Amino acid sequence: MAISATLIQQQRVSHHVIIEANGAIMERCISWAANQTNSTVTPMLGFWEDVTQLLGDETFDGVMFDPFPSTITLAFMKESRRLLREGGVLTYYLQQWGNSGVKQWARSRQDLLKAGFTEDEILPPKYAPMDIRSDCGANDLSTCPMQRVTFIIPQIVKGGKKRTEEFLNDAFSKPSTFETSFHDLRFLHEGPPRQPWARVAAQA
Ligand SMILES: C[S@@+](CC[C@H](N)C(=O)[O-])C[C@H]1O[C@@H](n2cnc3c(N)ncnc32)[C@H](O)[C@@H]1O
Repeated sequence: MAISATLIQQQRVSHHVIIEANGAIMERCISWAANQTNSTVTPMLGFWEDVTQLLGDETFDGVMFDPFPSTITLAFMKESRRLLREGGVLTYYLQQWGNSGVKQWARSRQDLLKAGFTEDEILPPKYAPMDIRSDCGANDLSTCPMQRVTFIIPQIVKGGKKRTEEFLNDAFSKPSTFETSFHDLRFLHEGPPRQPWARVAAQA
């Protein structure tokens, strides 16, 4: 559906790498990519487990992991850390039944630490509770009850929040070097969009 991919495009990143394992979806991705004018899009067919090793160390300003349901692993977190530049951001999402995402986040946070991220780099996640219809097995699924799910949106900044602030200050002082942006991922920074600050995004 290219939902998140389109949002990334709207931020006018200069280069956008998309990794997709399913051939049929990749065909749609390639057609979609051909119509993108904001940045160079590089679709890569394969499982990220095989593909990311083709990408260089510290070459991305943003990494987003977006399968559903979320299956982020320790291995992906380690790869993200390798791929991100200083000040670069990893984001993904987790989901937990109920009003609190506390348990899932505690587990994921431990994995981030095992992957080499530091306490300083792991910013408080955003929590987004929403009601979704459960699959109760009825022929007419619209009769199934709604259930509360909390989506958890982590924000991991390589080098820590302080590094991001330095990066943003640098962007303000030298706007011409930051020709593109990723700022609509507003959960990364409170308040209105700020100076464009990221140039390259990877999405799996
Ligand atoms: C929720 S969709 C992604 C939507 C997309 N980010 C967008 O812009 O709308 C999840 C995709 O992840 C792909 N996928 C699942 N596991 C994968 C893996 N290990 N490596 C690469 N792609 C994978 C699935 O084939 C599926 O197309």
